Amino acid sequence: MSPLVAIPVHERTIALVGLMGVGKSTVGRRLAKRLALPFADGDVEIEAAAGMTVSDIFARLGEAEFRAGEARVMKRLLEAPRMVLATGGGAILNAETRAALQARAVTVWMRADLKTVAERVQRRDTRPLLRGRDPLQALTAMAEARYPFYSQADVTVDVATGAHGEAVEAIVRALDAWNAEQAA
Ligand code: S3P
Repeated sequence: MSPLVAIPVHERTIALVGLMGVGKSTVGRRLAKRLALPFADGDVEIEAAAGMTVSDIFARLGEAEFRAGEARVMKRLLEAPRMVLATGGGAILNAETRAALQARAVTVWMRADLKTVAERVQRRDTRPLLRGRDPLQALTAMAEARYPFYSQADVTVDVATGAHGEAVEAIVRALDAWNAEQAA
């Protein structure tokens, strides 16, 4: 099926979007369990397809190749049956990915305070776009470029990073409200 053929809301993949470090992968996995849906993580799928880590793809092939691979993986995942999908923070930069998300997914923007996210991302060194940069500055620049896209999500949920269980419940409530609105 073409990703641009819109599908009914109850068949839609639940796609988590938002900046790196807001907890899309951890919360997504828990949300999938809670909703008894399969789970996929965009970055993990890219790594599997490329046979290297995200860091290595950036280092060896460059960001443009990473983005091309990311768009291919997103297309494939959005053509698959309903799931919870944690997208990489930059996936929405691609216009085709945005169109596919709009047609085939309910998008959930996990929004969090930038200072909290900056503290959190410092715990791991797996994100090439932050390497050698001040995390808060880098995240602030990313927010400026990306919030116009994230803010178009179907549902926005403010998440306090760390409290993953609460984030899961907040997303379930927001999705219930969104579904009710669509049915009205
Ligand atoms: C990126 C976010 C990362 C990963 C890559 C680029 C971005 O994913 O795709 O490092 O551009 O924001 P997470 O959002 O899962 O950390």
